Amino acid sequence: MPPRRGLLRPTSTGLRIRLRLAPGQEPADIAASAERLRHAWGVHGVYVEPVMPGVVELRLVGFDVLRRARMPRKAGGGFLRVPVALREDATAFVRDYRAIPHELVLGATLSGKSMYLRHLITGLAGMPVALAGIDCKRGVELAPFAPRLSALATEPAEAAELLPVLVREMEDRYDLIRARQGIAPSTPNEEITSDVWGLPESERPVSIVLFVDEVAELFLVASRKDEERRDEMVTQLIRLAQLGRAAGIYLEVCGQRFGAELGKGATMLRAQLSGRVCHRVNDEPSAKMALGDIATEAVGAACTIAPERPGLAVVGDTSGGWFRIRTPYLSLADAAARCERTAHLVPELPALKPFRPTATA
Ligand SMILES: Nc1ncnc2c1ncn2[C@@H]1O[C@H](COP(=O)(O)OP(=O)(O)O)[C@@H](O)[C@H]1O
Ligand SMILES: [Mg+2]
Repeated sequence: MPPRRGLLRPTSTGLRIRLRLAPGQEPADIAASAERLRHAWGVHGVYVEPVMPGVVELRLVGFDVLRRARMPRKAGGGFLRVPVALREDATAFVRDYRAIPHELVLGATLSGKSMYLRHLITGLAGMPVALAGIDCKRGVELAPFAPRLSALATEPAEAAELLPVLVREMEDRYDLIRARQGIAPSTPNEEITSDVWGLPESERPVSIVLFVDEVAELFLVASRKDEERRDEMVTQLIRLAQLGRAAGIYLEVCGQRFGAELGKGATMLRAQLSGRVCHRVNDEPSAKMALGDIATEAVGAACTIAPERPGLAVVGDTSGGWFRIRTPYLSLADAAARCERTAHLVPELPALKPFRPTATA
Protein backbone atom coordinates (compact mmCIF):
# COMPACT_ATOMS: atom_id res chain seq x y z
CA MET A 1 0.00 0.00 0.00
CA PRO A 2 1.52 3.37 -0.91
CA PRO A 3 1.79 6.04 1.80
CA ARG A 4 -0.56 9.04 1.44
CA ARG A 5 1.09 12.04 -0.08
CA GLY A 6 0.73 15.48 1.48
CA LEU A 7 1.39 18.89 -0.03
CA LEU A 8 4.38 19.45 -2.29
CA ARG A 9 6.46 22.37 -1.12
CA PRO A 10 9.13 23.75 -3.42
CA THR A 11 12.29 25.04 -1.72
CA SER A 12 15.29 26.93 -3.03
CA THR A 13 17.15 23.64 -3.34
CA GLY A 14 14.41 21.22 -4.39
CA LEU A 15 11.16 19.97 -2.94
CA ARG A 16 9.66 18.75 0.28
CA ILE A 17 6.81 16.30 0.55
CA ARG A 18 5.17 14.93 3.64
CA LEU A 19 4.02 11.34 3.57
CA ARG A 20 1.53 9.76 5.92
CA LEU A 21 2.64 6.19 6.45
CA ALA A 22 0.20 3.39 5.67
CA PRO A 23 -0.55 0.91 8.46
CA GLY A 24 2.42 -1.36 9.01
CA GLN A 25 4.96 0.99 7.47
CA GLU A 26 7.79 2.64 9.34
CA PRO A 27 10.17 5.46 8.40
CA ALA A 28 12.95 2.95 7.78
CA ASP A 29 10.91 1.43 4.92
CA ILE A 30 10.81 4.78 3.16
CA ALA A 31 14.45 5.48 3.98
CA ALA A 32 15.37 2.14 2.43
CA SER A 33 13.79 3.27 -0.86
CA ALA A 34 15.47 6.68 -0.83
CA GLU A 35 18.28 5.59 -3.14
CA ARG A 36 15.78 4.09 -5.62
CA LEU A 37 13.61 7.22 -5.50
CA ARG A 38 16.69 9.34 -6.12
CA HIS A 39 17.37 7.51 -9.39
CA ALA A 40 13.73 7.27 -10.40
CA TRP A 41 13.27 11.02 -10.01
CA GLY A 42 16.73 11.93 -11.27
CA VAL A 43 17.58 14.20 -8.34
CA HIS A 44 20.81 14.67 -6.45
CA GLY A 45 19.54 13.35 -3.15
CA VAL A 46 16.45 12.10 -1.35
CA TYR A 47 16.46 12.33 2.43
CA VAL A 48 13.86 10.99 4.79
CA GLU A 49 13.14 12.59 8.12
CA PRO A 50 10.46 11.45 10.58
CA VAL A 51 8.49 14.54 11.68
CA MET A 52 5.95 12.93 13.97
CA PRO A 53 4.66 9.42 14.51
CA GLY A 54 3.19 8.21 11.25
CA VAL A 55 4.51 11.09 9.16
CA VAL A 56 7.82 11.43 7.36
CA GLU A 57 9.15 14.24 5.29
CA LEU A 58 10.91 13.53 2.00
CA ARG A 59 13.49 16.15 1.12
CA LEU A 60 14.45 16.17 -2.52
CA VAL A 61 17.64 18.05 -3.22
CA GLY A 62 18.27 18.96 -6.84
CA PHE A 63 22.01 19.59 -6.73
CA ASP A 64 25.05 19.15 -4.55
CA VAL A 65 24.39 21.84 -1.94
CA LEU A 66 27.72 21.20 -0.23
CA ARG A 67 29.69 22.36 -3.25
CA ARG A 68 29.04 25.96 -2.21
CA ALA A 69 27.64 25.88 1.26
CA ARG A 70 25.15 28.66 2.02
CA MET A 71 23.08 28.64 5.16
CA PRO A 72 19.31 28.41 4.70
CA ARG A 73 17.41 31.52 5.71
CA LYS A 74 15.49 29.75 8.45
CA ALA A 75 18.34 28.14 10.33
CA GLY A 76 16.71 27.61 13.72
CA GLY A 77 19.21 29.17 16.08
CA GLY A 78 18.49 30.29 19.61
CA PHE A 79 20.12 30.51 23.00
CA LEU A 80 23.07 28.07 23.04
CA ARG A 81 21.98 26.82 19.62
CA VAL A 82 24.30 27.81 16.81
CA PRO A 83 23.51 27.01 13.16
CA VAL A 84 27.06 26.20 12.20
CA ALA A 85 26.99 24.38 8.88
CA LEU A 86 24.81 23.17 6.03
CA ARG A 87 23.66 19.56 5.99
CA GLU A 88 23.58 17.62 2.75
CA ASP A 89 19.77 17.68 2.83
CA ALA A 90 19.98 21.50 2.62
CA THR A 91 18.86 22.09 6.21
CA ALA A 92 21.01 23.74 8.84
CA PHE A 93 23.14 21.74 11.21
CA VAL A 94 22.61 23.31 14.61
CA ARG A 95 25.15 22.87 17.37
CA ASP A 96 22.91 22.67 20.42
CA TYR A 97 24.95 22.88 23.60
CA ARG A 98 22.11 21.99 25.91
CA ALA A 99 21.32 18.82 23.98
CA ILE A 100 24.94 17.78 23.36
CA PRO A 101 27.14 19.56 25.90
CA HIS A 102 30.56 18.48 24.68
CA GLU A 103 31.91 17.80 21.24
CA LEU A 104 35.01 16.44 19.57
CA VAL A 105 36.01 18.03 16.26
CA LEU A 106 38.53 15.90 14.42
CA GLY A 107 40.38 16.34 11.14
CA ALA A 108 43.74 16.52 9.42
CA THR A 109 45.57 19.82 9.05
CA LEU A 110 43.72 22.17 6.67
CA SER A 111 40.55 20.10 6.81
CA GLY A 112 38.46 22.95 8.22
CA LYS A 113 38.42 22.43 11.98
CA SER A 114 39.31 26.01 12.82
CA MET A 115 36.68 27.25 10.38
CA TYR A 116 34.12 25.20 12.26
CA LEU A 117 35.24 26.75 15.57
CA ARG A 118 35.17 30.18 13.95
CA HIS A 119 31.48 29.75 13.12
CA LEU A 120 30.70 28.56 16.62
CA ILE A 121 32.51 31.47 18.24
CA THR A 122 30.87 34.08 16.04
CA GLY A 123 27.51 32.42 16.60
CA LEU A 124 27.91 32.41 20.36
CA ALA A 125 29.44 35.90 20.41
CA GLY A 126 26.02 37.53 20.25
CA MET A 127 24.66 35.50 23.15
CA PRO A 128 25.05 36.11 26.87
CA VAL A 129 27.68 33.40 27.34
CA ALA A 130 31.33 33.43 28.38
CA LEU A 131 33.82 32.13 25.83
CA ALA A 132 37.16 30.70 26.88
CA GLY A 133 39.89 29.46 24.59
CA ILE A 134 42.97 27.29 24.74
CA ASP A 135 45.06 27.57 21.62
CA CYS A 136 48.59 26.32 22.10
CA LYS A 137 49.58 27.12 18.55
CA ARG A 138 50.53 30.50 20.04
CA GLY A 139 46.98 31.68 19.70
CA VAL A 140 47.04 31.96 15.91
CA GLU A 141 43.45 30.76 15.62
CA LEU A 142 41.79 32.17 18.71
CA ALA A 143 43.72 35.36 19.48
CA PRO A 144 41.84 37.30 16.75
CA PHE A 145 38.68 36.75 18.81
CA ALA A 146 40.31 38.11 21.98
CA PRO A 147 37.90 41.06 22.43
CA ARG A 148 35.01 38.65 23.00
CA LEU A 149 36.94 36.03 25.02
CA SER A 150 36.74 35.89 28.80
CA ALA A 151 39.89 33.81 28.95
CA LEU A 152 42.62 32.79 26.55
CA ALA A 153 45.55 30.46 27.14
CA THR A 154 48.16 30.27 24.39
CA GLU A 155 50.66 27.98 26.08
CA PRO A 156 50.34 24.71 27.98
CA ALA A 157 51.64 26.49 31.08
CA GLU A 158 48.80 29.02 30.90
CA ALA A 159 46.27 26.30 30.21
CA ALA A 160 47.54 24.46 33.28
CA GLU A 161 46.52 27.51 35.29
CA LEU A 162 43.21 28.10 33.55
CA LEU A 163 41.84 24.56 33.77
CA PRO A 164 41.91 24.27 37.58
CA VAL A 165 40.17 27.65 37.78
CA LEU A 166 37.41 26.35 35.54
CA VAL A 167 37.13 23.20 37.64
CA ARG A 168 36.85 25.33 40.78
CA GLU A 169 34.22 27.52 39.12
CA MET A 170 32.29 24.37 38.28
CA GLU A 171 32.51 23.15 41.86
CA ASP A 172 31.33 26.52 43.15
CA ARG A 173 28.33 26.20 40.89
CA TYR A 174 27.58 22.79 42.33
CA ASP A 175 27.73 24.36 45.80
CA LEU A 176 25.30 27.02 44.64
CA ILE A 177 22.92 24.37 43.31
CA ARG A 178 23.20 22.49 46.62
CA ALA A 179 22.47 25.61 48.62
CA ARG A 180 19.52 26.67 46.47
CA GLN A 181 17.91 23.26 46.15
CA GLY A 182 18.39 22.31 49.79
CA ILE A 183 20.68 19.41 48.98
CA ALA A 184 22.92 18.23 51.82
CA PRO A 185 26.42 19.70 51.46
CA SER A 186 27.90 16.23 51.81
CA THR A 187 26.21 14.97 48.63
CA PRO A 188 28.88 14.21 46.03
CA ASN A 189 28.70 16.26 42.82
CA GLU A 190 28.12 13.11 40.77
CA GLU A 191 24.83 12.43 42.55
CA ILE A 192 23.29 15.84 42.03
CA THR A 193 20.67 15.69 39.33
CA SER A 194 19.57 19.31 39.24
CA ASP A 195 21.44 21.82 37.13
CA VAL A 196 21.90 25.55 36.71
CA TRP A 197 18.76 25.70 34.58
CA GLY A 198 16.73 24.92 37.67
CA LEU A 199 17.99 28.08 39.38
CA PRO A 200 16.04 31.34 39.14
CA GLU A 201 17.35 33.41 36.26
CA SER A 202 18.73 36.12 38.52
CA GLU A 203 21.01 33.63 40.25
CA ARG A 204 21.88 31.43 37.35
CA PRO A 205 25.59 31.56 36.58
CA VAL A 206 26.48 32.44 33.01
CA SER A 207 27.22 29.54 30.66
CA ILE A 208 30.84 29.03 29.68
CA VAL A 209 31.99 27.42 26.45
CA LEU A 210 35.63 26.31 26.42
CA PHE A 211 37.26 25.92 23.02
CA VAL A 212 40.41 23.86 22.71
CA ASP A 213 42.04 24.23 19.29
CA GLU A 214 44.59 21.48 18.56
CA VAL A 215 44.39 19.41 21.69
CA ALA A 216 47.65 17.63 20.79
CA GLU A 217 49.58 20.89 21.16
CA LEU A 218 48.17 21.24 24.63
CA PHE A 219 49.30 17.77 25.57
CA LEU A 220 52.72 17.98 23.92
CA VAL A 221 55.36 16.83 26.37
CA ALA A 222 59.11 17.32 26.27
CA SER A 223 60.08 16.22 29.75
CA ARG A 224 58.95 14.13 32.66
CA LYS A 225 57.75 17.20 34.47
CA ASP A 226 55.60 18.12 31.48
CA GLU A 227 54.14 14.68 31.58
CA GLU A 228 52.84 15.19 35.09
CA ARG A 229 51.32 18.50 34.08
CA ARG A 230 49.68 16.93 31.06
CA ASP A 231 48.14 14.12 33.07
CA GLU A 232 46.75 16.71 35.44
CA MET A 233 45.22 18.68 32.58
CA VAL A 234 43.68 15.56 31.07
CA THR A 235 42.15 14.77 34.45
CA GLN A 236 40.77 18.30 34.73
CA LEU A 237 39.27 18.15 31.25
CA ILE A 238 37.66 14.80 32.09
CA ARG A 239 36.24 16.36 35.23
CA LEU A 240 34.81 19.28 33.26
CA ALA A 241 33.36 16.90 30.68
CA GLN A 242 31.78 14.66 33.30
CA LEU A 243 30.21 17.36 35.42
CA GLY A 244 30.27 20.52 33.30
CA ARG A 245 26.84 20.19 31.71
CA ALA A 246 24.88 20.70 34.92
CA ALA A 247 27.08 23.68 35.78
CA GLY A 248 26.58 25.26 32.36
CA ILE A 249 30.14 24.58 31.22
CA TYR A 250 30.60 23.13 27.75
CA LEU A 251 33.62 21.82 25.85
CA GLU A 252 34.50 21.98 22.19
CA VAL A 253 37.69 20.02 21.63
CA CYS A 254 39.46 20.05 18.33
CA GLY A 255 42.32 17.83 17.19
CA GLN A 256 44.01 15.96 14.36
CA ARG A 257 43.90 12.67 16.15
CA PHE A 258 42.50 11.69 19.46
CA GLY A 259 43.93 8.42 20.63
CA ALA A 260 46.08 6.87 23.27
CA GLU A 261 49.08 8.96 22.14
CA LEU A 262 47.55 11.88 24.03
CA GLY A 263 48.36 10.12 27.26
CA LYS A 264 46.58 8.49 30.13
CA GLY A 265 42.90 9.23 30.23
CA ALA A 266 42.58 10.38 26.61
CA THR A 267 40.12 7.64 25.71
CA MET A 268 38.13 8.40 28.82
CA LEU A 269 37.97 12.06 27.84
CA ARG A 270 36.91 11.12 24.33
CA ALA A 271 34.06 9.01 25.65
CA GLN A 272 32.69 12.09 27.42
CA LEU A 273 32.69 14.17 24.25
CA SER A 274 29.44 12.85 22.86
CA GLY A 275 29.12 15.12 19.83
CA ARG A 276 31.40 14.04 16.98
CA VAL A 277 32.42 15.96 13.90
CA CYS A 278 34.96 14.35 11.61
CA HIS A 279 36.56 16.36 8.83
CA ARG A 280 38.94 14.88 6.26
CA VAL A 281 41.44 12.57 7.92
CA ASN A 282 44.65 11.00 6.73
CA ASP A 283 43.86 7.45 7.72
CA GLU A 284 41.00 5.28 8.80
CA PRO A 285 42.11 4.90 12.44
CA SER A 286 41.69 8.67 12.88
CA ALA A 287 38.14 8.54 11.52
CA LYS A 288 37.47 5.62 13.84
CA MET A 289 38.58 7.74 16.78
CA ALA A 290 35.75 10.14 16.00
CA LEU A 291 33.02 7.94 14.60
CA GLY A 292 33.96 4.32 15.26
CA ASP A 293 31.75 4.05 18.31
CA ILE A 294 28.83 5.73 16.53
CA ALA A 295 28.34 4.20 13.08
CA THR A 296 30.68 2.15 10.92
CA GLU A 297 29.35 3.56 7.63
CA ALA A 298 30.09 7.04 8.94
CA VAL A 299 33.77 6.09 9.22
CA GLY A 300 33.78 5.13 5.53
CA ALA A 301 32.06 8.39 4.59
CA ALA A 302 34.65 10.42 6.51
CA CYS A 303 37.48 8.59 4.73
CA THR A 304 36.18 9.65 1.31
CA ILE A 305 36.20 13.40 1.96
CA ALA A 306 38.23 15.11 -0.76
CA PRO A 307 41.03 17.51 0.21
CA GLU A 308 39.69 20.14 -2.21
CA ARG A 309 36.57 20.48 -0.09
CA PRO A 310 37.75 21.84 3.23
CA GLY A 311 34.98 22.28 5.74
CA LEU A 312 33.22 19.11 4.65
CA ALA A 313 32.67 16.80 7.59
CA VAL A 314 30.65 13.86 8.83
CA VAL A 315 28.62 14.43 11.97
CA GLY A 316 27.62 11.53 14.13
CA ASP A 317 24.95 11.82 16.75
CA THR A 318 24.51 9.65 19.77
CA SER A 319 21.50 7.86 18.26
CA GLY A 320 23.82 6.29 15.69
CA GLY A 321 22.64 8.55 12.88
CA TRP A 322 25.11 10.48 10.79
CA PHE A 323 25.14 12.96 7.92
CA ARG A 324 27.48 15.16 5.92
CA ILE A 325 27.82 18.86 6.59
CA ARG A 326 29.90 21.71 5.27
CA THR A 327 30.61 25.03 6.88
CA PRO A 328 30.17 28.12 4.72
CA TYR A 329 33.31 30.17 4.19
CA LEU A 330 33.77 32.89 6.80
CA SER A 331 36.86 35.06 6.68
CA LEU A 332 38.94 35.53 9.78
CA ALA A 333 38.56 39.30 9.41
CA ASP A 334 34.76 39.09 9.41
CA ALA A 335 34.76 36.76 12.40
CA ALA A 336 37.17 38.99 14.30
CA ALA A 337 35.08 42.06 13.48
CA ARG A 338 32.02 40.37 14.90
CA CYS A 339 33.91 39.61 18.10
CA GLU A 340 34.94 43.23 18.32
CA ARG A 341 31.36 44.42 17.84
CA THR A 342 30.11 42.07 20.56
CA ALA A 343 32.94 42.76 23.02
CA HIS A 344 30.49 44.54 25.35
CA LEU A 345 28.71 41.20 25.87
CA VAL A 346 31.66 39.64 27.71
CA PRO A 347 30.01 38.66 30.97
CA GLU A 348 31.27 39.51 34.42
CA LEU A 349 33.12 36.43 35.68
CA PRO A 350 35.54 37.26 38.47
CA ALA A 351 37.24 33.84 38.41
CA LEU A 352 38.34 34.27 34.81
CA LYS A 353 39.45 37.87 35.09
CA PRO A 354 43.20 37.06 35.31
CA PHE A 355 42.93 35.16 32.02
CA ARG A 356 41.10 37.85 30.07
CA PRO A 357 43.22 38.60 27.00
CA THR A 358 43.91 42.29 26.43
CA ALA A 359 41.65 43.52 23.71
CA THR A 360 44.55 44.23 21.39
CA ALA A 361 46.20 40.81 21.65
N1 LIG B 1 33.88 25.57 4.51
C1 LIG B 1 34.94 26.05 3.88
N2 LIG B 1 34.83 26.58 2.65
C2 LIG B 1 35.91 27.06 2.02
N3 LIG B 1 37.15 27.07 2.52
C3 LIG B 1 37.32 26.55 3.73
C4 LIG B 1 36.23 26.03 4.48
N4 LIG B 1 36.70 25.58 5.66
C5 LIG B 1 38.00 25.83 5.67
N5 LIG B 1 38.39 26.42 4.51
C6 LIG B 1 39.75 26.83 4.16
O1 LIG B 1 40.61 25.71 4.30
C7 LIG B 1 41.80 26.07 4.95
C8 LIG B 1 42.00 25.25 6.21
O2 LIG B 1 40.97 25.49 7.14
P1 LIG B 1 41.21 25.44 8.71
O3 LIG B 1 39.88 25.65 9.31
O4 LIG B 1 42.29 26.38 9.11
O5 LIG B 1 41.69 23.94 8.86
P2 LIG B 1 42.33 23.21 10.14
O6 LIG B 1 42.05 24.03 11.37
O7 LIG B 1 41.64 21.89 10.15
O8 LIG B 1 43.79 23.06 9.85
C9 LIG B 1 41.72 27.55 5.25
O9 LIG B 1 42.42 28.25 4.26
C10 LIG B 1 40.25 27.86 5.15
O10 LIG B 1 40.03 29.17 4.70
MG1 LIG C 1 43.33 24.73 12.81
